[in-house]
Amino acid sequence: MAGTGVFAEIIDGEVYKYYADGEWKKSASGKSVSIINPTTRTPQYKVQACTQEEVNKVMDAAKAAQKLWARTPLWKRAEFLHKAAAILKEHKNPIAECLVKEIAKPAKDAVTEVVRSGDLVSYTAEDGVRILGEGKLLVSDSFPGNERSKYCLSSKIPLGVVLAIPPFNYPVNLAVSKIAPALIAGNALVLKPPTQGAVAALHMIHCFHLAGFPKGLIGCVTGKGSEIGDFLTMHPGVNCISFTGGDTGIAISKKAGMIPLQMELGGKDACIVLEDADLDLVTANIVKGGYSYSGQRCTAVKVVLIMESVADAVVEKVKAKMAKLTIGPPEENCDITPVVSESSANFIEGLVMDAKQKGATFCQEYRREGNLIWPLLLDHVRPDMRIAWEEPFGPVLPVIRISSVEEGIHHCNASNFGLQGCVFTRDINKAIMISDAMETGTVQINSAPARGPDHFPFQGLKESGIGSQGITNSINMMTKIKSTICSKRLSVCQALKD
Ligand code: G3H
Repeated sequence: MAGTGVFAEIIDGEVYKYYADGEWKKSASGKSVSIINPTTRTPQYKVQACTQEEVNKVMDAAKAAQKLWARTPLWKRAEFLHKAAAILKEHKNPIAECLVKEIAKPAKDAVTEVVRSGDLVSYTAEDGVRILGEGKLLVSDSFPGNERSKYCLSSKIPLGVVLAIPPFNYPVNLAVSKIAPALIAGNALVLKPPTQGAVAALHMIHCFHLAGFPKGLIGCVTGKGSEIGDFLTMHPGVNCISFTGGDTGIAISKKAGMIPLQMELGGKDACIVLEDADLDLVTANIVKGGYSYSGQRCTAVKVVLIMESVADAVVEKVKAKMAKLTIGPPEENCDITPVVSESSANFIEGLVMDAKQKGATFCQEYRREGNLIWPLLLDHVRPDMRIAWEEPFGPVLPVIRISSVEEGIHHCNASNFGLQGCVFTRDINKAIMISDAMETGTVQINSAPARGPDHFPFQGLKESGIGSQGITNSINMMTKIKSTICSKRLSVCQALKD
């Protein structure tokens, strides 16, 4: 159970502690932040409201610990990560319980998130040993005009302190996708979890604590964005920010200093369906891609762009499949569960009402109880409707009927977002040409958008983000190249002898 057994030390009374200098602590603010259960809409957990002074201390400890960590042998750093991964998987149930109560993730998916996270940490440890174990030797005479008089040895070194800010929808998995690459590369790590999902993240951090990482290397601060948000992202001690979330990321990128940024800020992933597509496959992927975790995935299918000639058939098939989705509490493992907050539900409702007013066809009746919104397919959506462009982050999917492939590509590319997209056709040549024309970080052929497997590159164009994620890319992003150049007079052998 959450907050008990090995996790008992992370809670004081009813408030979860924050993690600094290898210890679980209460904030001197004496204040806490409440986490509302999306299903019951009542307070579920409380976390510390950390102060700016406490953030400073976490940063100082991280800076100091990182210097030693960077010199800890790579194989030992990997061992710590493997240990943390095993502990994380061992405690999947209490962590999943938090995900169910904080973010209303269906029980089975919550367990999957934790197991996937353990696998991600192990894979990162293995990948890191290979990537970081390799350097390069360059000789000068490959460049015009040079003799073979210089030798350049280069390898990857850590950046320093990485600030990780994951989103509410994957507070564990999208935290470890930042934590593990940072640590294997020799960085220290400061985590600011999302408020919804903070308690799951604190449990996950405790698994790293139990693995025995050096004191101060990992810190985790909770609290109000208004108090510590900008303070953290503009902190002079931070050497890299990895952020996943909404358009707050754009503001962060404008305020952050001259440091590497990795950002994933959402998408409006288009699903382009051609006339020759396998319609059953299309249907299965629209329902899974559009409605898993109630559409609260940045990679969810967020607009269907379908050739008019097959639209009626697909809409009917999707409606039939949607009718089988179970709707209710996450504890019962329902397919559709309440969205994360009342403000999120209100935003989704605003998009639905706009579409209604402008004449979209409702394939089901719109229904909402509290934060629970019944899955909805909106047909005959037109570009003047907000839902055609905005990201609902809820179980509402618009269908736009198109008369040519070019029209579909044009709509996809007119979006401010460019995360992923997908195309359904039996013609691989067409699929590749369409993929080439779509301005998105990834295009899936005959399959719905998805980030995983977690070692695949994952990146967004335009307002969907900066940089590329995926295990290998994240490790590389959290390092920089260091070169040592030996001239002929002081050859490498001579230098080693001396
Ligand atoms: O919400 C954003 C996540 O990166 C999506 O991950 O495709 O595994 O659901 P997923």
